Amino acid sequence: MLITSELITAIKGQFRINWSGIHGISHWARVFDNGMKLSKQTGANQKVIQLFSVFHDSRRHNEHLDPKHGPRGAELATQLRENHFPLLTDEEFDLLHQACCLHTKAATHDNITVQTCFDADRLDLGRVGKVPKAKYLCTDAAKLQEMIAWAHQRSIDGAVPDNVLGMIVFQM
Ligand SMILES: [Fe+2]
Ligand SMILES: [Fe+2]
Repeated sequence: MLITSELITAIKGQFRINWSGIHGISHWARVFDNGMKLSKQTGANQKVIQLFSVFHDSRRHNEHLDPKHGPRGAELATQLRENHFPLLTDEEFDLLHQACCLHTKAATHDNITVQTCFDADRLDLGRVGKVPKAKYLCTDAAKLQEMIAWAHQRSIDGAVPDNVLGMIVFQM
């Protein structure tokens, strides 16, 4: 198991904003789920997606404009790597680092795993009143109207997915 309760405790311990808020654990759980679903079609690395879901917004300082939060999240991943996910290869870690750093800055990326991370996050915009637009998504799998509609409805509903992060939502 890559996402352990020890890892979540370490991330939560330094989290500055609302754990139950729009950039908190239930968003992360939907990003995880979106990414897993997309990966079946894109072939993206699932370990990288799972870690992206818990690190990309882990160091936000506010719920609004915080342009440096991606690089800060990547830095936290660097700090926790050795103790919490030492088996991730350098190549995988580099993809995780890039996905976190660039997720709000880059429109897309040349790597399919990084693209899938971006899309997993962007498909969950309904929670802030935005509808994901295909032109801002990277992968063909995410651009499918069916996929957008599925993820968007869950985002609006604040759905808690049946996955390892969803279980943590219920323990809050
Ligand atoms: Fe973010
Ligand atoms: Fe996010």
